[in-house]
Amino acid sequence: MARVVSYFLAICNLFCRSSKMDLETSLKECSAALELFLDNRFSDALALLKPWKAQSMYHAMGYSSILVMQAGMTFEPKDMDAAMTSLREALQTCQSFRKKTGIVETLASLWYRQTADNLTEEEMHAELCYAEVLLQKAALTFLDESIIGFIKGGMRIRNSYQIFKECQTMASVTKDMEERKSTHVHFRGGISMGIGSFNLMLSLLPSRVLRVMEFLGFSGDREVGLSELRQGAGSNSLRSILSALTLLMYHLYITVILGTGEGNLTEAEALLVPYTQRFPNGALILFYTARIALLKGNFTFLRDDPSE
Ligand SMILES: *[C@@H]1O[C@H](CO)[C@@H](O)[C@H](O)[C@H]1NC(C)=O
Ligand SMILES: *[C@@H]1O[C@H](CO)[C@@H](O)[C@H](O)[C@H]1NC(C)=O
Ligand SMILES: *[C@@H]1O[C@H](CO)[C@@H](O)[C@H](O)[C@H]1NC(C)=O
Repeated sequence: MARVVSYFLAICNLFCRSSKMDLETSLKECSAALELFLDNRFSDALALLKPWKAQSMYHAMGYSSILVMQAGMTFEPKDMDAAMTSLREALQTCQSFRKKTGIVETLASLWYRQTADNLTEEEMHAELCYAEVLLQKAALTFLDESIIGFIKGGMRIRNSYQIFKECQTMASVTKDMEERKSTHVHFRGGISMGIGSFNLMLSLLPSRVLRVMEFLGFSGDREVGLSELRQGAGSNSLRSILSALTLLMYHLYITVILGTGEGNLTEAEALLVPYTQRFPNGALILFYTARIALLKGNFTFLRDDPSE
């Protein structure tokens, strides 16, 4: 597996540099980088994405996602700055692919939301990536912990949510595109992940807060969230694993912390199976495998842990 990826890297270094990056290639490279990441080869993943992060939205998004995760783990100011800079650049890259709306359209969209059936496939992906990067930026702003940071973060989250909703509308009017474009499955996977995570997270808020959020146009339906995430995890797309990881986080941590006690260990184990086979040593995968063993009270597994 790792060897195949290395060859891919080498070949790409030879050929991809000079030509323009198309959407399909950028999705392939982004998922190659994700595989490297899951295989603990973090610097290789960054090296694959870095050369194209100014020209391709998926490279930009992947690159900033890795830096954000790093910052979220270390909390060091240096890492936070690097992540913030990469997010700013990623937003610019995504913005350059988004459909330009003139002043007339902007005014018109104040009255009726543009259903945007005129967007190209690339422009649709740009909307999705933009929303995702915005959400990461919001998360990082919250870590800043000032009241200004809180308000800015809140506004970004709202903006991101609205774009996800618009993408969902777009996906429902462009059903026939699915057969034509191999990239469309990734677009749908992204929507499932975004809408699913939003619904699930909001559903965890106290009901009074949730009512305010619903008044502001958010929706926090737990069942919708779970079913979107399951759909995303089951689709064979770039973001399948991210949907799966969100579900695992819910079943293995959030339900335990909140004491709702409805985490489904059977489902968690089934979700993890394909990834334990592909990335037997992946840090993230081992982390969840150990958590399942712990929750099941399987101390045989924990004692067998080679790190001890
Ligand atoms: C946009 O979509 C509308 C309706 O689907 C169509 O009539 C129009 O020609 C499209 N415009 C462009 C520029 O593609
Ligand atoms: C847990 O998940 C499994 C597999 O997805 C399902 O068959 C089972 O009904 C679920 N259990 C509960 C309590 O929801
Ligand atoms: C407990 O972990 C061991 C070691 O990984 C495994 O062989 C065994 O099947 C697990 N038992 C259960 C009940 O899951």
